[in-house]
Amino acid sequence: MSRKINIAIDGHSSCGKGTLAKNLAKELGYMFIDSGAMYRAVTLYLIQHQITLDEIPKNPSLLLEIDIDFRLDPMIGFYNTYLNGENVESEIRGMQVSKWVSEVSAVKEVRNYLVNKQQKMGEDKGVVMDGRDIGTVVFPDAELKIFMTAEPMVRAKRRYLELKSKDIEADLQEIYENVIHRDRFDSSRENSPLMQAPDAIVLNNTEMTRDEQAKIALTWAKGVILAG
Ligand code: DC
Repeated sequence: MSRKINIAIDGHSSCGKGTLAKNLAKELGYMFIDSGAMYRAVTLYLIQHQITLDEIPKNPSLLLEIDIDFRLDPMIGFYNTYLNGENVESEIRGMQVSKWVSEVSAVKEVRNYLVNKQQKMGEDKGVVMDGRDIGTVVFPDAELKIFMTAEPMVRAKRRYLELKSKDIEADLQEIYENVIHRDRFDSSRENSPLMQAPDAIVLNNTEMTRDEQAKIALTWAKGVILAG
């Protein structure tokens, strides 16, 4: 059997990291982990319990009440996000969570809590994880690191169509502004800002189809696996 590797996929908001990561995981028989969904689930928990961000550093143990896991939906062949045992997959994609998630993910205690969980998930290799700090902080030793980007309006349109297809209310201009806001916020925050790892390969998919990008990334992954 070929060796297992970890694959880190980082990049800007809504540029298809999740789609690519899911594809790669399926092709390779690996576990896909959407680290953004974990930040979104924490955000949803804080909203539900009306916990403000300044309460977290004062009482970081409140984070221990937040249990997040991913469960395979055999009907669609993909994983759904569960927060304390409840399927929150569509709730965490709505605008209410999207508006707060960057601020929540800038809190040091939240990052420490989730990075620790993410590193445990990758201990046995065979993981494709997408996010902002996977190649730099979570898996600095990942055998393959991909940094994805695309034009902001192209990304906003893709997110708009994705939400519409799931019957989630969406406004293109609002999504575009949210994409720009999150790019700026994620790249300039103090704790593990979005950054390209020096050994990451850049994938700009502005003019690429999903199939084209999936093919390219799979070739890279197989090359790394075989080279080991
Ligand atoms: O990938 P996404 O858009 O669902 O991520 C939601 C937010 O979570 C994004 O604004 C930045 C944050 N995030 C992060 O800080 N670190 C990660 N590894 C993943 C996401």
